[in-house]
Amino acid sequence: MPPVANHWFTFCYGPEILQRPGSASGQFPIFVANWQGMEMISPEAQAYSARYSTPEGELLEEIAAYTVDNHPQAQMLSGHVQGKFLEMISHLLHPRRVLEIGTFMGYSGLCLAAGLTGDGKLHTIELREEDAAIAAENFKRANWQDRIILHVGNALEIIPTLKEEWDLVFIDADKVNYPAYYRLVLPRLRAGGLIIADNVLFHGEVLEKEVKGKNALAIQAFNELVRADDSVDKVMVTLRDGLFLIRKK
Ligand SMILES: C[S@@+](CC[C@H](N)C(=O)[O-])C[C@H]1O[C@@H](n2cnc3c(N)ncnc32)[C@H](O)[C@@H]1O
Repeated sequence: MPPVANHWFTFCYGPEILQRPGSASGQFPIFVANWQGMEMISPEAQAYSARYSTPEGELLEEIAAYTVDNHPQAQMLSGHVQGKFLEMISHLLHPRRVLEIGTFMGYSGLCLAAGLTGDGKLHTIELREEDAAIAAENFKRANWQDRIILHVGNALEIIPTLKEEWDLVFIDADKVNYPAYYRLVLPRLRAGGLIIADNVLFHGEVLEKEVKGKNALAIQAFNELVRADDSVDKVMVTLRDGLFLIRKK
């Protein structure tokens, strides 16, 4: 599989994030800007929680290692503990219809599909063809090409064409569109269904006195939108870069 270009990095994550020099190939890289940057949780606590979580499993481990070795934006992948968290939620909800916005290498998609019902389907949307091609390969390797439907294109255009009632939605694409994704999916989320939104702490940028930058501002607007919405119960979990769990009443 070919390495992919680095043209989306600043769009999704901003230019300030640096990879720690010497992070070992095949391991998940540590990204540092400052303490309030990408690394919100101490590496020791992350390693500890990984040690006590179910192991990743061979395929997910290989996908993570491949991504670190070949993709300039490897930090976008959910990774071991967050992946297990998504998998756990999927097993608990036993969903029939799951929507993922932002496929990347297919790592989180495989986790979210783990608890699908026998006739369950996960729809996942990826804008970049080269990432989608790798994800499709990974879905095939899991032998889940029938239960995971991959859409290539802009999620803003594709979501309205999916006439499904969602049990579970994972929002993990371009940050500026989080509020739009929320407004698009909420009417099609069943009562009791769950939205999970990633990166809601945005590397600590939303904790600054003055929130700056279009991505951090969009995340802040999204968090406020959810807070003000009485039609949902919510809890913001300080796992990795922050996960918002939003349940429709
Ligand atoms: C953070 S990554 C997703 C990571 C993946 N969910 C995981 O946890 O392993 C975000 C992905 O969203 C994709 N993306 C960005 N804007 C998009 C859009 N408008 N429509 C669909 N995908 C988009 C990017 O190309 C990127 O692959």
